[in-house]
Amino acid sequence: MKLIDNIADMKSYSDRIRAEGNKISFVPTMGALHTGHLKLIKNANNISDICVVSIFINPAQFGPTEDFNKYPRDLDKDKGLLKEIGVDAIFFPKLEDMYGDHFQTYVEVEELQKPLCGKLRPGHFKGVATIVLKLFNIVKPHYAVFGEKDYQQLQVIKKMVCDLNLDVDIISHPIVREQSGLAMSSRNDYLDSGQREKACSISQALFNIKQQFDTGITDRNNLLDSAYSILNKANIDEIEYLEIVDGKNLIEKKLAGPGDLVAIAARLDGTRLIDNIRL
Ligand code: PAJ
Repeated sequence: MKLIDNIADMKSYSDRIRAEGNKISFVPTMGALHTGHLKLIKNANNISDICVVSIFINPAQFGPTEDFNKYPRDLDKDKGLLKEIGVDAIFFPKLEDMYGDHFQTYVEVEELQKPLCGKLRPGHFKGVATIVLKLFNIVKPHYAVFGEKDYQQLQVIKKMVCDLNLDVDIISHPIVREQSGLAMSSRNDYLDSGQREKACSISQALFNIKQQFDTGITDRNNLLDSAYSILNKANIDEIEYLEIVDGKNLIEKKLAGPGDLVAIAARLDGTRLIDNIRL
């Protein structure tokens, strides 16, 4: 497994792989890898000759009061997990190399960045799109795999790739959940066992909406009401949003239809958790 910590080496590694006629798959991450990441990475490993994983905690996607400084970091553990899977290269660039002096060029996916998480995290998707474009330019992948857990991020990246004519196939991977239903996340590390139990009500609320929809209920308010009562019962009172939106353009729906997305963001004692389900 190649350990690459600088941009020039990453570019020349990818150039060589491409010149040999091999296909590169790529999974960008911020590290603190869990089983959800590892499933994505195994999938990427299976669809190409060479699999590259990046680990970079991107300051541009964190707001000034968010958890950039306390975001979990364990590069040695991550390297061990990736070696076990058998990825070909890990790219872990330095902050100062990715954002040099007076960095001032950003990409924005104007409409898709606005709803849901975009309302509460201004600038977040601008930071995500910018770092992903930079990583694509450095790693030069044929395929890049993203998780549906971050559904809005996935749509933003797909749109950027389409609008900017990038030669990368975006592949989506279903949400990986714990047995309890809780969507796996690096931020689950912040939760103690009591909080984890509480957090399960987030996925339960989504499963409940899906069940109701499957019985023929389509009215947004009817669908959301009992989800709210599940969340309130579990004392999850800081719900940033719980919405039913179109699965492609993320515009809010009053009447739900097949393929729509139910998306939630909630805070549990300060820890921000997101989840979603397709109807
Ligand atoms: P990170 O949160 O580390 O996630 C890396 C990838 O793993 C993303 O595509 C995310 O959707 C996916 N992922 C995380 N948890 C998952 C789960 N439980 N099920 C399925 N997929 C899951 O997302 C980012 O990093 C960053 O925004 C990044 C794209 C690397 C840009 O900085």
